[in-house]
Amino acid sequence: MNLTIRPISSRAELSAAAALVARLQHDPASHIGYLDVEVAGLEKQLGELEPLGLDGVIGAFTDGRVIGVLVTDWDTDPPRVWWHGPLVDAAGDDDPDEADRRWARIAGSLYTAAQRLLPATVTEEEILPDERNERLARFAHHYSFELGSGAAVLSRKLDTTMPSPDLPGVVIRAFRDEDRAAVAAIHDQLFPGSHLPGPRVDEGRDRQVFVALRDLDPVGYVAIERQRDGQGYLDFVGVTDDERGLGIGTALAAEACVSAWDAGSVGVHLTVRTSNVAARRLYERLGFTEERILVPWRRRRGTQRFAQPRP
Ligand SMILES: CC(C)(COP(=O)(O)OP(=O)(O)OC[C@H]1O[C@@H](n2cnc3c(N)ncnc32)[C@H](O)[C@@H]1OP(=O)(O)O)[C@@H](O)C(=O)NCCC(=O)NCCS
Repeated sequence: MNLTIRPISSRAELSAAAALVARLQHDPASHIGYLDVEVAGLEKQLGELEPLGLDGVIGAFTDGRVIGVLVTDWDTDPPRVWWHGPLVDAAGDDDPDEADRRWARIAGSLYTAAQRLLPATVTEEEILPDERNERLARFAHHYSFELGSGAAVLSRKLDTTMPSPDLPGVVIRAFRDEDRAAVAAIHDQLFPGSHLPGPRVDEGRDRQVFVALRDLDPVGYVAIERQRDGQGYLDFVGVTDDERGLGIGTALAAEACVSAWDAGSVGVHLTVRTSNVAARRLYERLGFTEERILVPWRRRRGTQRFAQPRP
């Protein structure tokens, strides 16, 4: 097979890459987290990921046709790259083992090329496949990624039936700059090493944060983002230890959903650790249902072997 690996370089290639990714995203056996699932959203998203935009979208081509994509998306705080992919169409007329080997070869070539784009300051890597994506699990294992605990993707259609618990003595309102230090402290204690450090919890376009206050002190917060497809993504909800079990988490999540509805979203989704019993119960009570389980694979860069997968 005549395989070329290089960044996507034209509008037409971007459309072809988005169509390939959308098709693979609809199949649980090749689905990964973070990426959109529809062509229109993907065409925008693939060109906008930080910091390289389209230059960070590596394609695998045969005869000018895109058959694989690996998208790079990294930050310096935390110094982590989120690999979106490899997403590869390795289908052929031959037997499944041969298709698996072809998939692994193409995926390995994409990964080798994409690694060269990363600065040395990016020291952590993450891949987030659907738990049914066995090829990506084998790939991650091969490259010495370590498996973290699974996260459930939950979603809910929005309507006017959002419950809103009565909370004596607690006020919920939009985040203000004066809340930053207290909310950052709660966030960093509850979500150490998350994709956003506490002081930046309100950062980003189309992002809203709400705070729960008792006697003017923040005791909890929630962050929600409006995504390209118009859906709300509930990013964080946290309540201080001594205020839990009173309905504050439920009220915050409900407030975030109401704000998404007001902004025109028709649905909200989120991810939650499968082991997080309290949060899962809260979302279930708010009417969220499970769509899929995603499993994070992580590794530190530069500490493991780095070679092409063996057939
Ligand atoms: C999840 C969290 C926000 C819930 O906040 P909260 O104010 O306690 O939430 P609520 O009081 O509205 O509801 C919590 C529900 O979980 C239940 N719950 C609390 N602890 C529980 C536990 N250990 N096991 C089972 N259920 C539990 C409560 O009983 C309540 O359900 P119920 O009203 O049906 O009885 C809070 O526990 C928290 O900040 N956790 C750490 C951060 C986190 O994990 N956030 C979610 C990330 S997606």
